Amino acid sequence: MEKKLGLAIIGAGRIGSTRARVAAQYPACRIVAVADINVDRAVELGNAVGAEFTGDDVGKAVSHPGVDAVLVATPEHTHTQPVIAALAAHKPVMCDTPMALNVRDAAAMERAANAYGVPLCFAYTQRFQRQYQVAKDNVQRGALGRILGGTVRVYNSRAPTFQILKRCPQVTPVVDILTYWVDMVCWLMEGNRVVEVFARGNGEVLRSAGYSADDIVWAILTFTDGAVVSAGIAYALPEQYPSLGQSPRLELIGTQGALLLDDERKNHFMYSEHGVMHGYVPNHSVKAAFLGSSSFGDWAQGTLWGPLADETRAFVDFVLTGRPGTIPQAQEARRTLEITLAIEESARTCKVVKLPFPEPA
Ligand SMILES: NC(=O)c1ccc[n+]([C@@H]2O[C@H](COP(=O)([O-])OP(=O)(O)OC[C@H]3O[C@@H](n4cnc5c(N)ncnc54)[C@H](O)[C@@H]3O)[C@@H](O)[C@H]2O)c1
Repeated sequence: MEKKLGLAIIGAGRIGSTRARVAAQYPACRIVAVADINVDRAVELGNAVGAEFTGDDVGKAVSHPGVDAVLVATPEHTHTQPVIAALAAHKPVMCDTPMALNVRDAAAMERAANAYGVPLCFAYTQRFQRQYQVAKDNVQRGALGRILGGTVRVYNSRAPTFQILKRCPQVTPVVDILTYWVDMVCWLMEGNRVVEVFARGNGEVLRSAGYSADDIVWAILTFTDGAVVSAGIAYALPEQYPSLGQSPRLELIGTQGALLLDDERKNHFMYSEHGVMHGYVPNHSVKAAFLGSSSFGDWAQGTLWGPLADETRAFVDFVLTGRPGTIPQAQEARRTLEITLAIEESARTCKVVKLPFPEPA
C-alpha cells in the first residue's frame, strides 16, 4: 500500500520516538525527517524508522519537500520556535502539551496558525481514552442535565515528576499534567468557560530537591454559569507508589445525572519480586504495579496499546481527510494553559485570579 502522508518528527526523545514508531507502523504515513538538537539521537531514530533526512536543523526538516505535516515533541519550554517554523512552511502541526509556559509564547503560536491558515493541534492525549469519548458523547446529548460542578484529581509518584523537572525545571505539575484534566473538564463542559480560579498549594519533596513547584495543589474553578469544579494534583508520592503514570479520578454532577470515572487501574494489579518496568522513567521499576496505568500507553507484543497511538494516527487521518476530530487546536489549548497559569498564580499569591487574561502585546 502506498504510504501517503510524509511526517517530520521534531524531538527524538521518549515521546517523539514513540510517535515515530507508531507512525512508522501505520500504512497511511511515513517518516521523512527527524530533527533533534542531539544529532546522535536524531540519526538513531531516523535510521530506525527509515527517514530520508536526519540532523539538528529543524528548519530543513520542516521544509523538506517530502514532509506534509509535523509532530513537535521537544521539551515544554522549546515548542514555540519549531511550531512557528513548521507553520511558516505551511505544514499542519501537532505539538505535545503544554502549549507553552507563558501566554506570550502561546499567543505567538496561535497568531502564526491564523496568519498562515494552517491547523495547529495540541496533544491532549487523555481525550483518546475510550471512556472519555463515550462520556463526551453522552454529556453532549444532555445526559447529565445542567452540569452543576464536580471534581477531578490526578496522583502520581515522584519518579516521573523528577524526569519532567530535569528537562524543564521551570514547569510545574499543574502546568504539565493537571492541564490534561483541566482540558478534559473544559471539553466535557464545552461552551462554558472558566472565569475565576482560587487555589492553594503545599510542598516539601520537590522543593528540597531544588525545584520551586508544590507537591500538592488544590483549586476551585468557577465557570460562567456558576458551575464549580475542584481540580487537584499530587505528583510527589513515593517512588514505589504503584501507578505507572497519571492516576486520575473525574466526577461531574448535573441536575439529571452523575458521571464517575475512576481511572486509577487499581483493579489491574501485578506484584513481582523482579519488578515491573516503568514505561517512561528509564531503569525504574516497582514491585507492586497498577497494570495499564501508563498514561501514554504500553508497548506489548511490538505494538503500542493506548491513547498516544490512537492520537498519533488520528492526527494523520485529520491531515489526510480534513475530517475534524477531537484533537484541540491552538485557541482551546491556550485557554487551558491560561487556567493552569491562573491556578499557579492563585496558589502563589493566595488571591482569586480572574480569566481570561488580557491579550499580550
Ligand atoms: N502526550 C503525552 O502523553 C506526553 C507524555 C509525556 C511527555 N509529553 C510531552 O512531550 C514533550 C517531550 O517529552 P519527552 O518525555 O519526550 O522528553 P525527552 O527529554 O525524552 O525528549 C525531548 C527531546 O527533544 C530534544 N530537544 C530539546 N530541545 C530541542 C529543540 N529546540 N529542537 C529539537 N529537539 C530538541 C532533546 O534532545 C530530546 O531528545 C514535552 O512537551 C512533554 O510535556 C507528552
